[in-house]
Amino acid sequence: MTQVDSKPERILITGNNGYIGSVMGPWFKRAGFDVVGLDSNLFQQCSLVPDKDNIPTIEKDLREVTPRDLDGFDAIVHLAALSNDPIGNLREDWTRDINHTGSVRLARCAKQAGVKRFVFSSSCIMYGMSEVAEANEDAPLAPQTEYARSKVTAEAALSELADDSFSPVFCRNGTVYGLSPRMRFDTVLNNLMGMAVSAGRVQVFSDGTPWRPVVHVQDVARSFQTILEAPRADIHDQAFNMGADHLNHQIADLARIVTETVPGCTLEMVPQPGADQRTYKAGFGKFKRTFPAFQFLWTPRDGARELYEAFTRIGLTAADFKDKRFTRLHWLRHLIDSGQVDGQLRWAAMAA
Ligand SMILES: NC(=O)c1ccc[n+]([C@@H]2O[C@H](COP(=O)([O-])OP(=O)(O)OC[C@H]3O[C@@H](n4cnc5c(N)ncnc54)[C@H](O)[C@@H]3O)[C@@H](O)[C@H]2O)c1
Repeated sequence: MTQVDSKPERILITGNNGYIGSVMGPWFKRAGFDVVGLDSNLFQQCSLVPDKDNIPTIEKDLREVTPRDLDGFDAIVHLAALSNDPIGNLREDWTRDINHTGSVRLARCAKQAGVKRFVFSSSCIMYGMSEVAEANEDAPLAPQTEYARSKVTAEAALSELADDSFSPVFCRNGTVYGLSPRMRFDTVLNNLMGMAVSAGRVQVFSDGTPWRPVVHVQDVARSFQTILEAPRADIHDQAFNMGADHLNHQIADLARIVTETVPGCTLEMVPQPGADQRTYKAGFGKFKRTFPAFQFLWTPRDGARELYEAFTRIGLTAADFKDKRFTRLHWLRHLIDSGQVDGQLRWAAMAA
């Protein structure tokens, strides 16, 4: 029997205590959903600003979820992941285990529990160094890192689970920016703004020409809500680049916006051999055609202003900006080196 459309009410968000999740959870709650989180809380000690709301959270590793945990949910928004290219270099198998195998396992459990919609937080990074002028959802995938590969293989495996009772949907985000309780300084605009406010100067270690699609974290939350509420026929087993064409920017352009936002801030371009020259422009026509009423409200200039005000309010220092708590790779390394997590990236105390 084909699934009947009904507005989902009870939502599970995995990774709700991460950078995107700690904005999205409270957003969904305010939007009227009954929201529960699931997170192993790797970054619980990594708050820059207070949480907006408390979301009841199942503290559990994704890799140990059972169908019983997922009973009674209408939809799952799956954010939990190792979300950073360099983490893949730290230990490739972690990224594979969590982002690919863990996601597929979660989706199988969800299907078994009768969850109808599975919204997978994917990434435009899978287009790699795209040769295509603007990579749309049909562009060839050229993942360059273990992280990007894990998103490609997870999408393919999740797609195989799609049937009349289960609708996976793949939300390929650009690089996310904006204020979040669990702030990250390892994404481009957040990084440039943190540097600008804490040091009064911005250094870009490339020639600034690479393109990035960027999207504000609140727009991510709103666009995921649109996916949750969409008629099944519009989203079933579909991939969407999440963003808008006018949100493709060159790094140099983002750096200029930042220096124009922070009074007295200087800009230094320091092209270096081996610099990160990943470049791609994403095409966002499909999302716009499917959801013509939806507007991405934030521009990088608005986001830079929001971050400037937040960082000056809390007096962000150079030490805060460099603090391991706000760079995912550095924090995970700290958890490993201090023995807090084991060789499988599970909390050592819990494993014992
Ligand atoms: N931030 C971005 O720019 C961006 C861009 C594109 C896609 N994404 C995707 O969006 C999602 C969220 O990204 P983010 O920036 O919030 O990442 P994040 O690192 O801030 O948060 C990830 C959350 O997942 C949790 N988690 C990790 N492994 C887990 C496990 N095994 N079991 C349970 N929980 C686990 C962490 O504790 C953390 O709270 C990820 O899937 C990421 O790949 C993010």
